[in-house]
Amino acid sequence: MFSLNNKNQKIAVIGCGYWGSIIINTLLKLKFKKIIIFDKSMKNKKIVKKRFKIIEFEDKFHKILNDENIKNIFVATPPSENFKIVKKLIEYNKNIFLEKPGFHKLTDIDKIKKYLNKSKSKLMVGYIYYYNAYIEKIKKILDKNILGDILYISFSRKNLGPIRSDVDVDYDLTSHDLSIIKKLFNKIPKIKSYEKYTLLKKNIPDISNLHLKIKNINIDINNSWLNPTKERVIKIIGKKKMLSFDEMNIDSPIRIYDQYAKYPDMNYFDEKFFKSKALIYKGKSKKIKIKTQPPLINEIKKFFNSKKPITDINFARDILVFLKKI
Ligand SMILES: NC(=O)c1ccc[n+]([C@@H]2O[C@H](COP(=O)([O-])OP(=O)(O)OC[C@H]3O[C@@H](n4cnc5c(N)ncnc54)[C@H](O)[C@@H]3O)[C@@H](O)[C@H]2O)c1
Repeated sequence: MFSLNNKNQKIAVIGCGYWGSIIINTLLKLKFKKIIIFDKSMKNKKIVKKRFKIIEFEDKFHKILNDENIKNIFVATPPSENFKIVKKLIEYNKNIFLEKPGFHKLTDIDKIKKYLNKSKSKLMVGYIYYYNAYIEKIKKILDKNILGDILYISFSRKNLGPIRSDVDVDYDLTSHDLSIIKKLFNKIPKIKSYEKYTLLKKNIPDISNLHLKIKNINIDINNSWLNPTKERVIKIIGKKKMLSFDEMNIDSPIRIYDQYAKYPDMNYFDEKFFKSKALIYKGKSKKIKIKTQPPLINEIKKFFNSKKPITDINFARDILVFLKKI
């Protein structure tokens, strides 16, 4: 009755701001017909009412909780609001799709874990890159060792806004990169050093520079919500080839460069020669084409279809533990 195929089931969306309205749009694309919105902002409700004609609104949270025809609920409220909302939803055995990073206190996430263990609720945290076909493709490229041994990876996620007032730039943006690293390597990286710049509001850093290590791979993450242009770039430097993933390049986001740099091998050249320049090889680059659906469609389908989603509360907790250290 509450499967992806039942387009007549009631679905609730809590929070219809920037991301909540993207979720609503995607649910409509998936042909769900009964979408009920709960939000405390009249302004945002008016905006979505104008944009999406067929949705309904509910002003009383307890009515959503008590409606047995609502089993699947999407939560896109700020992290500081999530604990009390999610706690209630678990009490009523609802299935919850909770936007990342979910929580900003470890004590809260641990309580939620306990409540989940005692309930029939399923909870998936919306770490969207885990369901992104391009990241899936990059994982395959790395697993097949196409780039050779990986020396270095850089992540850059920048834009002007959205600027959060309850969490910092790392909770908001770096959490995405950590979910990508976790997908690629099945691990969370170690912290070598970091620097954050707090420019707009006390105690809420706007720009973050992290220097990390996973296995022998050096990783830099440089994120900002105070930037003139939108950038979403990952660069992977291998011993044999290099890869770039530029999400803003809609035509060919992934490109593999047949190029590398290395010093000549000591076995073949004398020391005098070795002191000279590194060799640079520059071959061609090629676009990597894949068939893909918007990641939010993949993610929402996974929410309905998985009994135990991979991006569950433990996945979110691993990322939160990292975020607490910086
Ligand atoms: N997956 C992604 O790529 C992605 C992108 C953007 C945002 N997000 C996440 O989505 C969440 C929301 O972000 P946003 O940009 O949409 O924020 P937003 O401020 O635009 O929207 C939040 C909405 O929640 C409502 N709200 C707040 N407290 C509430 C409460 N107690 N009950 C009901 N409604 C309440 C607000 O009125 C607002 O309409 C955040 O956790 C953010 O990290 C995820």
